[in-house]
Amino acid sequence: MAETTPVEPSDAPKMERWGTRLGVILAVMGSAVGLGNFLRFPGKAAQYEGGAFMVPYFVALLVLGIPLAWAEWAMGRFGGCKGYNSTPGIYRTLWRKNPLAPYCGVLGLLVPVVIYMYYVFIEGWCLAYAWYMLTGQLTLGKDAAEYGKFFDNFIGSGSNGLLVAQHGTLAPAVIFLLICFVLNFALIFRGISKGIEKFCLIAMPMLVVCAIIVLIRVLTLGTPDPSRPDLNVLNGLGYLWNAHTTNKTFLESLANGQMWLEATGQIFFSLSVGFGVIITYSSYLRRDDDIALSSLTSCAGNEFCEVALGGMITVPAAFVFLGAAGIAGKGTFGLGFVTLPMVFEMMPLGRFVGFLFFFLLFLAAVTSSLSMLQPAIALLEEGLGIGRKASVALLGFITLIGSLFVVYFSKGLIALDTMDFWVGTVGIFILAFFQVILFGWVMGLRTGVEEINRGGTIRVPYFVGLVLKFVAPLYLGGVLVTFLYQSFTAKEGNYFLTLRDSRDAQLTVAFIVIVAILFLLLIGQSVKRWQKRELMAEESP
Ligand code: PFF
Repeated sequence: MAETTPVEPSDAPKMERWGTRLGVILAVMGSAVGLGNFLRFPGKAAQYEGGAFMVPYFVALLVLGIPLAWAEWAMGRFGGCKGYNSTPGIYRTLWRKNPLAPYCGVLGLLVPVVIYMYYVFIEGWCLAYAWYMLTGQLTLGKDAAEYGKFFDNFIGSGSNGLLVAQHGTLAPAVIFLLICFVLNFALIFRGISKGIEKFCLIAMPMLVVCAIIVLIRVLTLGTPDPSRPDLNVLNGLGYLWNAHTTNKTFLESLANGQMWLEATGQIFFSLSVGFGVIITYSSYLRRDDDIALSSLTSCAGNEFCEVALGGMITVPAAFVFLGAAGIAGKGTFGLGFVTLPMVFEMMPLGRFVGFLFFFLLFLAAVTSSLSMLQPAIALLEEGLGIGRKASVALLGFITLIGSLFVVYFSKGLIALDTMDFWVGTVGIFILAFFQVILFGWVMGLRTGVEEINRGGTIRVPYFVGLVLKFVAPLYLGGVLVTFLYQSFTAKEGNYFLTLRDSRDAQLTVAFIVIVAILFLLLIGQSVKRWQKRELMAEESP
C-alpha cells in the first residue's frame, strides 16, 4: 500500500463526526435520492423501452455502482482517520508518492460544485411548482401547450436574461432559487451532524411517505376514461416495464449501445457515485464504524426510491391520461414540469397529489444539493484553515455567481445543459475512473478490501476487489471512450458542435475553467499549508 501520513494535523479544527449510524446512512441515501430518481430515471427508462433498459441498468449497478460506492466509503473513512475530509487531502494521504495526487482532487470539488449551480435552480422549480399546485396557479385546463408556455415562461427558455420580471421585480424562478440557496447554506452552516444529518433524518422519511401516498393514488386510478379502456394502470406499468415492444424482440432491444451508456450514467448519477461526495461524507466516520452494510443499505434505499417509487409514479400516471403519445419524446423536464402538472389537473384529488409530488421532489433535491456543497466546504476549512462562517460565505459567493450565470443564460437552457454534459456527465466518468484506479491499483486490493470490511456488520467478498481492480476500469474506460465518440459524431445533441457554434456554450465552458483554476489555486495553497504542518510535526519531538 502507499505510505500514508503518520501525523494527524495538530492545528486542524476539531474533527466533526456523524451523530448516529442511521444518520449517516440517511445522509448518503439523501444525497443519492434526488431528481434523478423521480424524473431522470423514468424518463430514460421510457425512452429505452423500459424493461430492456433494466438489464444494462442492473449490470451497471452490480458491477460498478455498488462496488464503487464501497470503495468511496472506504477511501473516505481512511482519509478521515488521517484528519482529512476533502478529496485533495484524502487523495494525498492515499497516494503519498505522487505530488500531483491532491490536484487530481480538483474534480472532486469542481463536479459537485458546478452541478450544484444548476441543480439548485431546478430545486427552485420544484418548490415553486409545489406552491403553485397548492395555490391553484397551475390550473390551466387540458391543453398541453398551455403548460408548456407556462413552464417556458417560468424558466425563461425563450431568451437570455431571466433575472428580472416585467415590473422590475425579481422573476419568480429567481425568488424560489434564492429561497433554496439560503436554505442549503443555512443547513451547511450548522454542520455535519446538526445540519445535514438532522435535516436528512426528517426529510428522508417524509419524502418516502409523500411518495407512497402519491403512488397509492396512481395505482388506484384504474381506467379513468371508460371510452378508452386501453388507457389503464396495468398498461401504464406495462409501458414502462415490458421488456420489448411489439416490433422488436428482447435481444434486439438489448443491442442498443447508447442505452448501455445511458444506463451506466444513470447508475452513477443516481447513487451519487463518482462525484466526490460519498468520499467526503464517509470521512466523517470513526475508524471502526461499519461501512460494508451501511453503503449497501444506502444503495438499496436509493434503488427502492428509484425503481419502486420513481418508476411507478411518473410514467404510469401520464400514460393513464395521455397514452404513449403523451410521454414519448418529452424528455426529463417536459415529463416532470409540463406533462405531469396537466395529468394532476385531470386526476381526482390531483391538486393535492401534485403538491405532494413536487414537495417530495423538493425535499429529495435539498438532501442531494447539500451533499454537493460539503466537499468544497471541507477543503476551505481544512486547507485554508478558515472557519465555518468564512468558508460558507466564500462558497456561497462562488456558487451564487454560478447559479445566476445559469439563470441569466436561460435561452434553451444552454448554460445548464452545457454544464450537465461537460461536468455532470464527462466529469463524473473521469473522476470515477480515477477513483477506481486509486482504490484498485494505488491503495492495493488487499488493503482496500480489508478497509471496507473493518468494523463491518457484513463481509464483502474478495472478488469485489478484483472487480474493482480489473473489470471496473475496463468497463468505465470503454464506456467513456464510446460515449465521447458517440457524442462527437451524433447528429442531434452533439455538444462538440454546440460548443463550436454557440457563444453562450463557450462562455459556460470558460466559466467552468475559471472555477477549476480557482480550485487548483486553493489546492496549491492547501498543500503548502499541509506540508508546513507536517514539517513542524516532524521537528517537534
Ligand atoms: N443523486 C442525485 C440524484 O439522483 O438526483 C444527484 C446528485 C447528488 C448529483 C449529489 C451529484 C451529487 F454530488
